[in-house]
Amino acid sequence: MAGSVWRKKPMSAFEADMKKSELKRVLGKWSLTAIGVGAIIGGGIFVLTGTGAYYHAGPALALSFVIAGIACVFAALCYSEFASVLPVEGSAYAYAYGTIGEILAWIIGWGLVLEYAMGSMTVAVSWSGYFNKLLKMFGIVLPDWLTTDPASYTGSGFSMNLPAFLIVLLVVAILVRGTKGAAKANNFIVILKVAAVLFVIVAGLFFINLANWSPFIPDVKKIVSENGLTEAYGITGVISGAAAIFFAYVGFDAVSTQAGEAINPKKDVPFAIVASLLICTVLYILVSLVLTGMMNYQDFDPKGAYPDAIKAPVAYAFDIAGQNWASYIITFAATIGLISVLMVMIMGQSRIFLGMSKDGLLPKVFSRMNKVTGTPERNLYILGVVIAIVAAFTPINKLADMTSFGTLFAFMMVCIAVWVLRVKQPELPRSFKVPALPVIAVLGILINVYLMWNLSLDAQLLSLSWLAIGIIIYFLYSRKKSNLNHYNLDAAITHHDEEPTQEAIED
Ligand code: ALA
Repeated sequence: MAGSVWRKKPMSAFEADMKKSELKRVLGKWSLTAIGVGAIIGGGIFVLTGTGAYYHAGPALALSFVIAGIACVFAALCYSEFASVLPVEGSAYAYAYGTIGEILAWIIGWGLVLEYAMGSMTVAVSWSGYFNKLLKMFGIVLPDWLTTDPASYTGSGFSMNLPAFLIVLLVVAILVRGTKGAAKANNFIVILKVAAVLFVIVAGLFFINLANWSPFIPDVKKIVSENGLTEAYGITGVISGAAAIFFAYVGFDAVSTQAGEAINPKKDVPFAIVASLLICTVLYILVSLVLTGMMNYQDFDPKGAYPDAIKAPVAYAFDIAGQNWASYIITFAATIGLISVLMVMIMGQSRIFLGMSKDGLLPKVFSRMNKVTGTPERNLYILGVVIAIVAAFTPINKLADMTSFGTLFAFMMVCIAVWVLRVKQPELPRSFKVPALPVIAVLGILINVYLMWNLSLDAQLLSLSWLAIGIIIYFLYSRKKSNLNHYNLDAAITHHDEEPTQEAIED
């Protein structure tokens, strides 16, 4: 029999799950921080900066990064408090299940597919782009039919994005071997990409023309964009720029999906979430200042003198400065760097599905573990095949904004849920507490809603449709299969050590 859609998973059940978890606790403080940085720094900073500068903020792009960074800090603090109370693998989904009820938890879990699985698909396609560019630098040109999805292919006959397909399978092959090895590979890649970003900042300093920063916030102006005539610049441009570049910050919350594998989750996960976000925020602000100093924001006009600059703004800025060799370094770093984004995102998605499956809301195949490697092997294989196929055969990268929507939606719900938990269960031990909680949570909610509002209409409609499909699946499948339906009967014996009271479930 299906129970109330507002029932909550009792804290005792989370604790019992944690005790019985088959995941291996192998991640220390710095590996967790590297997972955060690994997920955050990716194509976003190398690609979106041109769009942010030309269509939105001008040289004040750095301020857009400050605003998006602040939005993330609010959410990061709320994630950190939750991770200190509930160090489990389901991230925002699990937090919501313990506080605001099953249906909202399900919708959040379903929405996180936009962030992690869809994010992985778009990252795989971006990786393919960088990989092709790298091959071209060495004189190797893959035919279009092997690098283009069928909908975008202009030739006739079969086509697929083979590099995108293969990289997903490679990453899954690394992940199924165990989290420790994957974390080692991630650490190595993170060092490499942080070095590349620092290189951009330091080398770029020599080519800054201070005149490019003046005026720092250009007057509001109408410019032609893909969506017709749009308003750019001024303070409103700075804010819409924050939404446009938000994707570059997506990923720090992935640290919370690894809580089940952390050696000391209650302390180290909050540390890693905040540390990875702060490191990347500082790097991003510096990169955007250097970029808009090297190249005038108006030169990113796709109809101007440098029509391709907006597609690869950072590399292009160095080309224009006559430093083509720098493009090699950037392309190489981005190609390697995106592998770790993909790795963390697929790993994060698998852990969210693992949590949902353990709770009965998804089929049990997602929580079958390989006892030797301590990974949810089949879960990873299923995700890998689906992500690889979609990345190879659909124009998924056109929907990248949906990833930002899914992320902002989860952030907003986590800000709500942390507040609810503080009010309802103030006595729970918390090794990290959000300072000035109602204020931070309210600001977090407002800023996340505002950024969602500023995403493209297509992304909003498609994301809402995705959530609506999720609600249908919830009523057709998950609600009936939820462990909480029979918690007092066999689930209490088979899945949990302690039997919660009926009052706690229906509360
Ligand atoms: N933040 C990640 C990137 O920029 C998703 O690629």
